[in-house]
Amino acid sequence: QVDAGVFGLDVTELLETLPQRPANAHKGMYGTVLVVGGDYGMAGAAALAAEAALRCGAGLVQVATRPEHVSALVARAPEVMPRGVESGDDLAPMLAAADVIVVGPGLGQSDWSRFLAQAALASGKPLVLDADVLNLLAAGELTLTGTDHILTPHPGEAARLLDCANAEVQHDRFASARALQEKLGGVVVLKGNGTLITGTGPIMLSDYGNPGMASGGMGDVLSGVIGSFVAQGLEFDEAAALGVCLHGAAADLAAEDGMHGLIASDLMPWLREL
Ligand code: APR
Ligand code: MG
Repeated sequence: QVDAGVFGLDVTELLETLPQRPANAHKGMYGTVLVVGGDYGMAGAAALAAEAALRCGAGLVQVATRPEHVSALVARAPEVMPRGVESGDDLAPMLAAADVIVVGPGLGQSDWSRFLAQAALASGKPLVLDADVLNLLAAGELTLTGTDHILTPHPGEAARLLDCANAEVQHDRFASARALQEKLGGVVVLKGNGTLITGTGPIMLSDYGNPGMASGGMGDVLSGVIGSFVAQGLEFDEAAALGVCLHGAAADLAAEDGMHGLIASDLMPWLREL
């Protein structure tokens, strides 16, 4: 099967798929995003995903993280609702309240990470899966049931999921994206220069983004952006395509003064501007 592909996605057109806010809008109409992550040493990843989800219009954003990280998250953005999780009792109400769960930003691969990821995957809620949850899947320590998910691997994570070399993934990115989608179902976002978005239909390619994005935390912002659009009711492929384009377009605007030293937090104001 040869993929013709869909090129030239337009962020302005995609933004029109978002519902207009009526005068009597309330936050319940825009969904609750739960971010699961932020193990020791990676608290900021969960914070970035959560803030991006709010900046893209989600109604409420909760974060299930290490107890030690809660106060830092509140200080950074009091609108975010973080909760320290040590047990299933801590996590259960958060899983129940979520319309979509973003699993992976700063998740790590500790026993704590595995416990949280397992519970999220078993919840039956729509999932956005990134970073270490992908590594745990690749290692066979977690399994996916169902197809209600969006996976956002970078080429290294894609290679681990396909059990091949990084160079092989990059040699034919269309074939790699298609193979991942066939293997794992749902929607696959293969990140990098010329990010590909694929469900069961034609593969879509985003031309947005720039090399300034090669800095820690950029992927965490993307997972929050996509989760936000799922929470707001977009179909998975629409949410992924809009999320990738908006993320890249925001980075392009943020880089107008130069790509050097661009950091993930710089995208936040631009996510709203578009
Ligand atoms: N051109 C265009 N876009 C780019 C470029 C580039 N040259 N470089 C990076 N990007 C974009 C990618 O498409 C993606 O959206 O920036 C984002 C980078 O995401 P990740 O690779 O996931 O980077 P990061 O956020 O730092 O990941 C954090 O999680 O995935 C793990 O191992 C990873 O420890 C790291 C952590
Ligand atoms: Mg990443």
